[in-house]
Amino acid sequence: MLLERRFAEYTSSLLVKQMPASKPKLLIVDDDEEIRTQMRWSLGTDFEIFQAGNRDGAIQQFRENTPPVVLLDLGLPPRPNLVDEGMNTLADIVQIAPKTKVIIISGQGERENALEAIGRGAYDFMSKPVDTEELQLVLKRCYYVADLEKEYVSMQKKLNEDAFEGMLGTSEPMQKVFGLVRKVATSNAPVMILGESGTGKEMVANAIHTRSSQADGPFVAINCSAIPESLLESELFGHEKGAFTGADSTRIGKIEQANGGTLFLDEIGEVPLNVQVKLLRFLQESYIERVGGRDTIPVETRIVAATNADLKKGMADGTFREDFYFRLSVVELNLPPLRDRGEDIEYLATSFLKRFAAEAGNGKLVFSAAALKGIRSYPWSGNVRELQNRVRRAAIMAEGNKVSPEDLQLPADRTIPAGTTLKEAREALEKEMIEAALKKHKNKVTAAAAELGISRPTFYELLDRLGIKR
Ligand SMILES: Nc1ncnc2c1ncn2[C@@H]1O[C@H](COP(=O)(O)OP(=O)(O)OP(=O)(O)O)[C@@H](O)[C@H]1O
Ligand SMILES: [Mg+2]
Repeated sequence: MLLERRFAEYTSSLLVKQMPASKPKLLIVDDDEEIRTQMRWSLGTDFEIFQAGNRDGAIQQFRENTPPVVLLDLGLPPRPNLVDEGMNTLADIVQIAPKTKVIIISGQGERENALEAIGRGAYDFMSKPVDTEELQLVLKRCYYVADLEKEYVSMQKKLNEDAFEGMLGTSEPMQKVFGLVRKVATSNAPVMILGESGTGKEMVANAIHTRSSQADGPFVAINCSAIPESLLESELFGHEKGAFTGADSTRIGKIEQANGGTLFLDEIGEVPLNVQVKLLRFLQESYIERVGGRDTIPVETRIVAATNADLKKGMADGTFREDFYFRLSVVELNLPPLRDRGEDIEYLATSFLKRFAAEAGNGKLVFSAAALKGIRSYPWSGNVRELQNRVRRAAIMAEGNKVSPEDLQLPADRTIPAGTTLKEAREALEKEMIEAALKKHKNKVTAAAAELGISRPTFYELLDRLGIKR
């Protein structure tokens, strides 16, 4: 029913759409000029017609105008009584553009040939003399299917563009990131990924690896901030047996493990100066020595580093070496915070919900209108993980098929209960806005006050009066 209705809508839209420029293209191939003229007469209002009387002419017209639909007579010169030239023309067209809808117009009693043509890729056939009304209908159905196919292909393409190595993002800043990753992945240059917490730095590092020439090699990640300073060196470079107390066997470090692949140095801003020096030497010379070892071991690995720390400040303070920084940041990739990704926020939320709802066994779960409104207006931080976690929780908490703002722990749509005084309403709003601003600016009063357009003393006074804790 639905399909029929869509088809009916479509055919009427075709009839409405009779602007010369937007007429669908149709190629008519027949050696009988009279028939071509007749068809031109009957179809010329609805279609932009091209015509040819033989195989060469047909292929030339087809290449020049790329019509989605072709009407093809099988009996073409030089042997109009046989079907081989017609079959050859069909084969040419199907080879050039396999999705073309070729309708065979066959003489009486040529049903077998027509069927054979279908086997070779024709879309449909009609017998001469052709009934104009029937032809109109068949043609319209052809264009409808061709349009659907085109729509499907472009949708598929869009889906692939949206998800880039598992990362979602249609917003301009994210598309820029994807473009840059595509470009740098195939080079061997070290990449520095900068971005706030939870913006997808590890995902980007992974994407670079997957798209690089060493994708078959290992991807080895090390979180430099999670390892005690005293152990970091041996974790990176490995150690020989007996190198220090507790080193009871030889151990291969992360750098060596990453040989032939990618080494991801996460939280690089946390690496102490002495280890920076050693890493720098490795970057310059491409070999390492294990702790307590004498041999130099050559290692070839792509380096990707990431941090959410301010390395420029580190350099100014002397906690981060400038030469190390320049070695690592041959290409610098800035990941935009979630709050700057516009339409992506809703898009991410919806895709996360699809995934978590399926996991929770409730594939029908969707956001309520109020929840979507809340998602759009909530002052998100930079962190994609925060959004992900809220949606994950909501998928579990939701009752029925709708996720409410409360499930997401978002401020509910503001409805003011009867009997509220103006003062109460104002204070509630003030409190909400101040809390949101504090959250957004990570409790930094100056920035929060600036955003709300009030002075710092006023801000403090409000905190006090409204009983807000930072
Ligand atoms: N563009 C995106 N599309 C889908 N999921 C994303 C995207 N960006 C981040 N995520 C998800 O958000 C979470 C955080 O991503 P990731 O660990 O790569 O970020 P990070 O910047 O390394 O975080 P951290 O600073 O905490 O180390 C992951 O669960 C990841 O799946
Ligand atoms: Mg990370």
